[in-house]
Amino acid sequence: MILQHHLVLTLCAVYGILLKVTAQKSTLRGSSGQHPLVQNQTVTEGGTANMTCRVEYNDQTSLQWSNPAQQTLFFGDKKALRDNRIELVRASWSELTISISEVTLADEGMYTCSLFTMPVKTAKAYLTVLGVPEMPEIDGLTKPALEGDEITLTCMTHGSKPAADLRWFRNEKEIKGAKEVNASGKTFTVTSSLQLLVDRDDDGAAYTCKVDHVALLQTPQQATEVLEVHYAPRVVITNSLTFPQEGQYLKLECVSKGNPSPDPVMWTKDGGELPDLERMIVEGRELTFTTLNKTDNGTYRCEASNHLGTSSAEYLLYVYDPNAMGQHGPDHALIGGVVAVVVFVTLCLIIVLGRYLARHKGTYLTNEAKGADDAPDADTAIINAEGNTHAEEKKEYFI
Ligand SMILES: *[C@@H]1O[C@H](CO)[C@@H](O)[C@H](O)[C@H]1NC(C)=O
Ligand SMILES: *[C@@H]1O[C@H](CO)[C@@H](O)[C@H](O)[C@H]1NC(C)=O
Ligand SMILES: *[C@@H]1O[C@H](CO)[C@@H](O)[C@H](O)[C@H]1NC(C)=O
Ligand SMILES: *[C@@H]1O[C@H](CO)[C@@H](O)[C@H](O)[C@H]1NC(C)=O
Ligand SMILES: *[C@@H]1O[C@H](CO)[C@@H](O)[C@H](O)[C@H]1NC(C)=O
Repeated sequence: MILQHHLVLTLCAVYGILLKVTAQKSTLRGSSGQHPLVQNQTVTEGGTANMTCRVEYNDQTSLQWSNPAQQTLFFGDKKALRDNRIELVRASWSELTISISEVTLADEGMYTCSLFTMPVKTAKAYLTVLGVPEMPEIDGLTKPALEGDEITLTCMTHGSKPAADLRWFRNEKEIKGAKEVNASGKTFTVTSSLQLLVDRDDDGAAYTCKVDHVALLQTPQQATEVLEVHYAPRVVITNSLTFPQEGQYLKLECVSKGNPSPDPVMWTKDGGELPDLERMIVEGRELTFTTLNKTDNGTYRCEASNHLGTSSAEYLLYVYDPNAMGQHGPDHALIGGVVAVVVFVTLCLIIVLGRYLARHKGTYLTNEAKGADDAPDADTAIINAEGNTHAEEKKEYFI
């Protein structure tokens, strides 16, 4: 009985201690554990920002969000500022989340979450608003440009925040431009210029200006201009035969490149008009001889021009006589020469080989005869002579 009473008392004491510990713990929570927690936010203009404020342990103390101008936006679940863009997402003792839609650059700043303990505890979250760069524009292009012109292409984009980066590409290959950044209010105007000495190779070249910016991860902005370059023609003559012979067909082409295209081209022979022959046909840029004649020898010239200039090329025609090709046809002469050399070398080989064979047969016979002097029969003679003849004997065999 006494023992039982004692046990009850002990249990009560233990319970009391437990109660005390629990009480202490909750006071601990109430003072130092009751903190609002927030995070900085970054939103692209036009987007929606969610501002969340959390408290781990809350003994039913109210939470509040206020904007950079210190105006209260929400006090618990109660809206305090008349702004349709600001809405309540979640309100509880442990969280107050509001959303700001269609964010503008003016919404940027320090937002405050307050927890109304004594004293009031606050946490600050910075809302960063990214300015989306506008579509870039390329300026300074003259169409068409003339070869040798110096032009400066300028690419400009407004409204970026932070300042955008501009990159130039010529036919997909990056080239360096000169960048300039000017602030205008909260955003930046970025320009990049490119100085070009226009070349005929620039005709049809695409110059692209690309905008690089954090707010443009999915939709890169760019502008492209294709250069049109006018230049004076440049002419060359190509021919279908290397050694034109009498009676052959020959085609000369006047390859001219110019912009605008120099059409048509003009052919002359020895400074005068082409002789009016049925064998010579001019068609577009081509001059064809259906059957070449010795009388066609001469200097042929083609000329092309556009409004920027004139260019010409000459071709010296020398009609080879097919009967005299032995002298004039290096192709045949070369082949003949090669054949002659081959025949000569073969003959020499045969002669040398023949002489070699004849000489060794001779030695063999001599040796055999030498051995025979001190041997009873021919076989022994061979064996006797073997010491110095065997190798040569074999050699002969193999040949
Ligand atoms: C904001 O919160 C709402 C509701 O939870 C969610 O649908 C939306 O995606 C969030 N927006 C952002 C930018 O996190
Ligand atoms: C939030 O932004 C402010 C202002 O830009 C900065 O001072 C602070 O360090 C940032 N806090 C965090 C956690 O990034
Ligand atoms: C940027 O500012 C400089 C100096 O203030 C000025 O000379 C220049 O023209 C400006 N550039 C642009 C693109 O506004
Ligand atoms: C070359 O032209 C001359 C004179 O026009 C002509 O007599 C001759 O037969 C021609 N030769 C050939 C191979 O066509
Ligand atoms: C043309 O060249 C050939 C060489 O094959 C020559 O024999 C001939 O006399 C030349 N004719 C003229 C008209 O110059």
